[in-house]
Amino acid sequence: MARLAHDAARTQNGGVASDGRVEAATLARLLGEWARSGTALPHALAGSIGELLTVGVLADRAVLPSQRALAAALGVSRGTVTEAYEILRANEQLLTRRGAGSELRRPRPLTGTSSPSDGRLASFTGHDSSAVDLSSGALPGLPLVHDAIARLDLGAELGTDGYHPAGLPRLRAAIAAQHTADGLPSEPAQILVTNGSQQAVWLLAHTIVDPGDEVVVEEPTYRGALEAFRSGGATLLAVPVRDDGLDLDLLDRHLTRHRPRLVYCQPAAHNPTGTTLSPLARRELADVLGGHGVLTVEDTSSADLVLDGLGTRTALAHLLPADRTLSVGTTSKLLWGGLRIGWLRGDPALIARLTEAKKAIDLGAAVIDQLLAADLLSHTARAREQRRVMLLDHLHRTEEILRRRRPGWTWPSPAGGTGLWIDTGEDTLAMAERARRHGVLLAAGPAFSAFNGFGHHLRLPFWPPAARLIEALDRLDRLG
Ligand SMILES: Cc1ncc(COP(=O)(O)O)c(C=O)c1O
Repeated sequence: MARLAHDAARTQNGGVASDGRVEAATLARLLGEWARSGTALPHALAGSIGELLTVGVLADRAVLPSQRALAAALGVSRGTVTEAYEILRANEQLLTRRGAGSELRRPRPLTGTSSPSDGRLASFTGHDSSAVDLSSGALPGLPLVHDAIARLDLGAELGTDGYHPAGLPRLRAAIAAQHTADGLPSEPAQILVTNGSQQAVWLLAHTIVDPGDEVVVEEPTYRGALEAFRSGGATLLAVPVRDDGLDLDLLDRHLTRHRPRLVYCQPAAHNPTGTTLSPLARRELADVLGGHGVLTVEDTSSADLVLDGLGTRTALAHLLPADRTLSVGTTSKLLWGGLRIGWLRGDPALIARLTEAKKAIDLGAAVIDQLLAADLLSHTARAREQRRVMLLDHLHRTEEILRRRRPGWTWPSPAGGTGLWIDTGEDTLAMAERARRHGVLLAAGPAFSAFNGFGHHLRLPFWPPAARLIEALDRLDRLG
């Protein structure tokens, strides 16, 4: 898909007639290298046309060329194209009417709070504890958290009412100081403490975004963000994440045509692909975003988990106007998800507005968690190094096992994060369902897609002990 969209983005709109007919030669060029090893040609062709539609390179209601013309342009048999069109029809992505040709139908973004494929966080979906859980990238806590609990001192806090809607002043100051140390000068007034960064994203999706507003997300992206934006009624526009970053041409076109309410992105240790932008790619992204003046939400939740040892990356907020950017952060990845401490950093006026919304939900985060987080943030450098050493070790072991046990699977080596984004060449929703019935929990690609795409992908966490992965693969092998 990455390669497809890349080629497509360089292609002009020539070859698409005003009545929406796409010429066979144009479609062949847009499709690029669509044939995939290990996938039957009709399925590969249908999948690739579907992807062009999903990311908006082919428009809703565009009319595909005749089967004969496309077969000639692609150098395949007419039967291959006939079957591919049939697959698209079965997926409700193509409508064929006598005399009018075959018209594409863009799938509507899924609505509701979760997608049917979402096996997220087994701990609250009630799966039995004997299941081998490979569905979540969430890490166990660092021992540092224990130490902080042992030194916890409520001090004068017990003498106050304990309600701090914008966050405990000490924690807001600690978060601002951490941003400053990472190269983004920040003040406590720019920080709103949230219950995890999931709440931060949810607040944006329900205050900044109105139902029907368009929001640009990366494709694929963090599934909790998809849940939040869908529940806020946003219409999602997708921009593919390539190995070297976002498809900037498509992003530019979306921003020009749709003027979306905001762009949500993860430039470092992207969940689920692990992609981390180079300084140049980051600058180019900021140029496009800044050129359109669009509100940009940079989710840095996984940014503590970049694995290359080059340290934290320049925040996008550093490269964009102060009132056009918000950063999302958390202690979950670095320290422990059980702390439930996240934050938003942005323009004080915007932060004040978001604080009002948070106040209406919960009046503020738990003081004890906030005190622990404030203490622990002073150990950020040590915690980052501990995570990096552990994750690199587990990454190498996991890759080694998979190369041996699943030679047909491919994945880009992640520059950060906790998971591998694997192209299995198989229907992973079916695989995950089969696996679930045999006590293995997997996260199939469509859960990370605004349009139920990535049907061959799995997001496999690489941090669990090797024994867990081996047990899961053994169980899957027994399924045949
Ligand atoms: C990109 C991203 N944002 C937000 C979150 C939410 O994390 P939490 O609510 O635990 O801070 C996650 C968790 O996986 C994530 O990967």
